[in-house]
Amino acid sequence: MARKENSEYVLSTSDEELRRLGIQHGLWLAHARKLWWKAGFGGSDRLLDIGCGPGYTSIDLSRFAGPKASVTAIDTSEKFLGHLNQRIQNEGFHQIQTHRSTLEDLALKKKDYDGAYCRWVLCFVKDPKHCLEKISSHLRPGAIFALQEYVDYGSMALYPEPGVLPTVVEAIFKSWRARGGDPDVGQGLPKLLEQTGFRVRHLRAVSRIARPTSKLWKWPDTFYASFVPELVKTGFLDQKSADTFFVQWKKASRESSSFFYAPSVMNIIAEKV
Ligand SMILES: C[S@@+](CC[C@H](N)C(=O)[O-])C[C@H]1O[C@@H](n2cnc3c(N)ncnc32)[C@H](O)[C@@H]1O
Repeated sequence: MARKENSEYVLSTSDEELRRLGIQHGLWLAHARKLWWKAGFGGSDRLLDIGCGPGYTSIDLSRFAGPKASVTAIDTSEKFLGHLNQRIQNEGFHQIQTHRSTLEDLALKKKDYDGAYCRWVLCFVKDPKHCLEKISSHLRPGAIFALQEYVDYGSMALYPEPGVLPTVVEAIFKSWRARGGDPDVGQGLPKLLEQTGFRVRHLRAVSRIARPTSKLWKWPDTFYASFVPELVKTGFLDQKSADTFFVQWKKASRESSSFFYAPSVMNIIAEKV
């Protein structure tokens, strides 16, 4: 029986989401690189990119780690992996292999990878501990696992006039949790990592502010444009609140004193014991 395309991923695998993930990646690449540097990825490492999506991270991780390193990119979405496979072919990234699987069912032949990277994936799974056990079982002792996940999603805010954004944020939480995910997954990760065979070596929160004239403004702008209509479609937000939100967001986008406080992300580096 054909497997259904990634219905578990609440933000969808549409073309719009594929493009949005590309924009998002560009805006967060410097932060990812910093973490990869701190994790010491490189040399002849065999790395996993966990929940790679369309592979923007896999390609930059491969570039970062160098020609002797390999990256195995894992995701459940056939469409996202198809996009990555096309780029591997067209652009010659032969150090990257793709593997389609859910994290819950992950069973690669090799069980001794040197490192893994995972960004904004565990917040979508029902049982992060089970997924961490699967990841852990594919890493050799001493392997490094670097993660970037939300730790305080409710910190997302618009100032000085929040308007109805808190209502939208509440709807995001509800829709996300209804699918089994947890936008604040980072809060439990250090403990879960310890329970699944890791020692946590580094923890840092990343708080960012976007202004209407900054590149980072595109991040909430593209996210709301694609996800707020989805919240209405799925019944988590009423049309009137969505309309009001877009009027207020457009107004804030024109005012130089507005700023967006991004949801806090947590950087984690853990070592497999
Ligand atoms: C927000 S995207 C992040 C993609 C990439 N890590 C990045 O930072 O650009 C989340 C990805 O997690 C994948 N995903 C969600 N739940 C998954 C699961 N249970 N197993 C494997 N992949 C999953 C989705 O298909 C999607 O590609």
